[in-house]
Amino acid sequence: SPIPTPANEPVRAYAPGSPERARLEAELDRQLGAQIEVPLVINGEQLRTGTTQTMVMPHDHGHVTGTCHQAGEAEVAKALQAAKDAAPGWAAMPWEDRAAIFLRAARLLQDEFRDRLNASTMLGQSKTCHQAEIDAACELVDFFRFNVAYVERMYAEQPQSPGSAVWNRLEYRPLDGFVFAVTPFNFTSIAANLCAAPAMLGNTVIWKPAPTALLSSHYLMELFAAAGLPPGVINFIPGPAAQVGAQVMGDPDLAGVHFTGSTATFKLLWKQAADNLDRYRSYPRIVGETGGKDFVVAHPSADLERLAPALLRGAFEYQGQKCSAASRAYIPESLWPQLRERLVAGMEAMKMGDPRDFSNFLGAVIDDRAYAKHAAAIAEAKAAVGGAVTEILGGECDDAKGYFVRPTVIVTTDPRYATMVEELFGPILTVFVYPDAEFGPILETCDQSTPYALTGAIFAEDRKAVVQAVEGLRFAAGNFYINDKPTGAVVGQQPFGGSRASGTNDKAGSMWNLIRWASPRTIKENL
Ligand code: SER
Repeated sequence: SPIPTPANEPVRAYAPGSPERARLEAELDRQLGAQIEVPLVINGEQLRTGTTQTMVMPHDHGHVTGTCHQAGEAEVAKALQAAKDAAPGWAAMPWEDRAAIFLRAARLLQDEFRDRLNASTMLGQSKTCHQAEIDAACELVDFFRFNVAYVERMYAEQPQSPGSAVWNRLEYRPLDGFVFAVTPFNFTSIAANLCAAPAMLGNTVIWKPAPTALLSSHYLMELFAAAGLPPGVINFIPGPAAQVGAQVMGDPDLAGVHFTGSTATFKLLWKQAADNLDRYRSYPRIVGETGGKDFVVAHPSADLERLAPALLRGAFEYQGQKCSAASRAYIPESLWPQLRERLVAGMEAMKMGDPRDFSNFLGAVIDDRAYAKHAAAIAEAKAAVGGAVTEILGGECDDAKGYFVRPTVIVTTDPRYATMVEELFGPILTVFVYPDAEFGPILETCDQSTPYALTGAIFAEDRKAVVQAVEGLRFAAGNFYINDKPTGAVVGQQPFGGSRASGTNDKAGSMWNLIRWASPRTIKENL
């Protein structure tokens, strides 16, 4: 019988005085006072190593939310063994039984786990309630449900068997080994899906979470367990990245890597895979989404009513820490004075602070390293005023209580100025103002000036300009938006991923991603 038809999970408003708001606030209070101790989870068992990392909140770094136990060599070895031991049973399970576990996880996310994951994402990763809701609740429910629908469709794909004497078929086996999931801080849903997608196809997983998203990662493990995921299918090993990475990548049974994070780390994983190639039984499937320098190009015909809010939201929501966030814009001279005014007004209106105050539009950047990087880029830009930089809008930073960086626009006269081409991953947008007549050349500059190709947007009411941008920027972005912000891809609607230095473009939330976790066997039988 057909599986349940997926529909995108509705976004809840958490209006003041609503029961959903009261429940979330109670959960925020609970987690704030809990001093949680996050264990490793290996073969379904919690493990405490005694070597711990302290967890703090980015918007209040003096407040410790708990500690997280760290895996050493022995625990990594144990996790690898658990993933191998659990593999045959999990692979042999009828796919409907695996699917039911993830559909059940989606169901639990409509209830008590929604609050747990939203609250931990707000406190641990400094997301506002809305940003947590569209990530840890809605996008994650969508990943679970749509994955099941895509897998059903994929399994139905079968070869021809002409005549009556032969039966050709494809058996959708999992990979012949385990998958290593290395996950980012910026989306709780992506962290979960990097584990869940390979698991759905019958693979077992070693999960190394981001050290800056441990609270939500912990509740994700609780969600998987509550949904009935068997022991050993996803093994949770927070720990020092270099050591854990080298040990896992050196294992002969490594069959896949599912990664979201920095370009540098992804390249390191490829190098480790190359170094270990003779030890592996299979060529590992390496799937990753990495850095970006996402752009907005405006044509002189652009509608300011669409452009200004898209730039404000695209560049600054979640403090510019979405892989899809706009971080460079090419604006025609004729539009700049009016756009500038709107940006200034919009940025000044953005309230920033503790996400527990629901009226805040922005939280803090993720940690001290991110803060130092953004503060340094802004300081450098300030020193360049009068040279390559015309002016800076915003630009205030304060890390006394939390890692707060105000939304900042750097206006440059050089389309290859540092912050125009280098990834910062923060609330900093660099603008290059170009002569109206040079739309064609600006498309080329946009295409050629960074190694990345994740997301981008064109704003134009002139249809010819839209077509010119679609053509000229063909390989500049894996997700291309026309008259819309480059963030906020929805599962089932805009499959997400980029190419060039931005990743392998295996499109999260789509069948193309799931296919990478299957190793089909072709069977021909003479009847
Ligand atoms: N999928 C997210 C977005 O589109 C980024 O990872 O904003």
